Amino acid sequence: MTAFRTLDDIGDVTGKRVLVREDLNVPMDGARVTDDTRLRAAAPTIAELSDKGAIVLVLGHFGRPKGNRSADMSLAQLTMPLKNVIGREVMFVRDCVGPDAEQAIALLAPGDVAILENTRFHVGEERNDPALVTEMAKLRDIYVNDAFSAAHRAHASTEGLARVLPAFAGRSMQAELQALEKALGNPEHPVAAVVGGAKVSSKLDVLRHLVEKVDHLIIGGGMANTFLAARGVDVGKSLCEHDLTGTANEILDAADRANCTVHLPYDVVVAREFRANPPVRTVNVHEVAADEMILDVGPNAVEALGDVLKNCRTLVWNGPLGAFETPPFDAATVSLARTAAALTRSGSLVSVAGGGDTVAALNQAGVADECSFVSAAGGAFLEWMEGKILPGVAALSR
Ligand code: 3PG
Ligand code: MG
Repeated sequence: MTAFRTLDDIGDVTGKRVLVREDLNVPMDGARVTDDTRLRAAAPTIAELSDKGAIVLVLGHFGRPKGNRSADMSLAQLTMPLKNVIGREVMFVRDCVGPDAEQAIALLAPGDVAILENTRFHVGEERNDPALVTEMAKLRDIYVNDAFSAAHRAHASTEGLARVLPAFAGRSMQAELQALEKALGNPEHPVAAVVGGAKVSSKLDVLRHLVEKVDHLIIGGGMANTFLAARGVDVGKSLCEHDLTGTANEILDAADRANCTVHLPYDVVVAREFRANPPVRTVNVHEVAADEMILDVGPNAVEALGDVLKNCRTLVWNGPLGAFETPPFDAATVSLARTAAALTRSGSLVSVAGGGDTVAALNQAGVADECSFVSAAGGAFLEWMEGKILPGVAALSR
């Protein structure tokens, strides 16, 4: 892993203005934060810097406003939720640059915490415009990037600032990078990866990279159907990207060459309609009827996958095995997640999960807390699983 400086190296921050890039892009329903994982991830760094007497200026984006101001994407709405999570006062500054912002910031005292308005209200943010970077850095002393989940973006607040201010990784960024290193960078073998989700097309690069890295690749979700079809299985009405069966075969061949065992389901749960609790059958993959859909991995395959995990030392998990939002098609995901949790508890497995639906699925299984590490990242986790260098991380590693 490339070296980066952390808060341990930051020195005396008393009275210093520290820009802290967090990922405040949380899911909301009206004024309510429906999943505060990212706020909880932000808390330790903000609290630590505030305790050390820094003037903590939190930078973040919300949504994709593309340079336009809009009330429903204002970070003002995160002030209370963040205050509740960190248990101390949080102020709000109406812009991240400009004279009004400077005036408001000048009134802050050591230890104060303020959120600066959505960086994406400026077009220069996503363009990583040097002029905006200079404005943001003006009168600031230090930059801390604590937003691994936005590190796949080369934006002014995620990449540009690291080049013009002394730059450090926050505690959440540090924890993410260390966990990911342990999972794929320099893991204990055998390593298993679970990759699920609807479409092969969204995870081609992930699969190509993983077959070179892991010993067991467990494919689930709708994307498994494309692989089954590639192997000549008639998947009936299942979600399947028939145009990608050639690509699926290439990935299977690459896995063979790399000594990576690919696990596809051999029994499956099927239904004629996709809705909650329809009539279902559990069948061998070769017995799917023309009008049936595969909606989950079957119990025999899940048990066999559990045995695979028992022989592994490391697990990386991205994506559910079945259509887990719709009962009973969460059964395989929940069951395998519980096995992984038990193995993690017993100390035989390091388990790292992240990306999109994965955290929701693990929460549903009630085991998110029992994984060794759950990433707060969606797209960034996937790009990392593709073996890409994330610009926000690269800018810190100098
Ligand atoms: C995320 O939600 O994955 C991050 O906050 C990045 O957001 P973006 O996909 O809009 O860049
Ligand atoms: Mg996103």
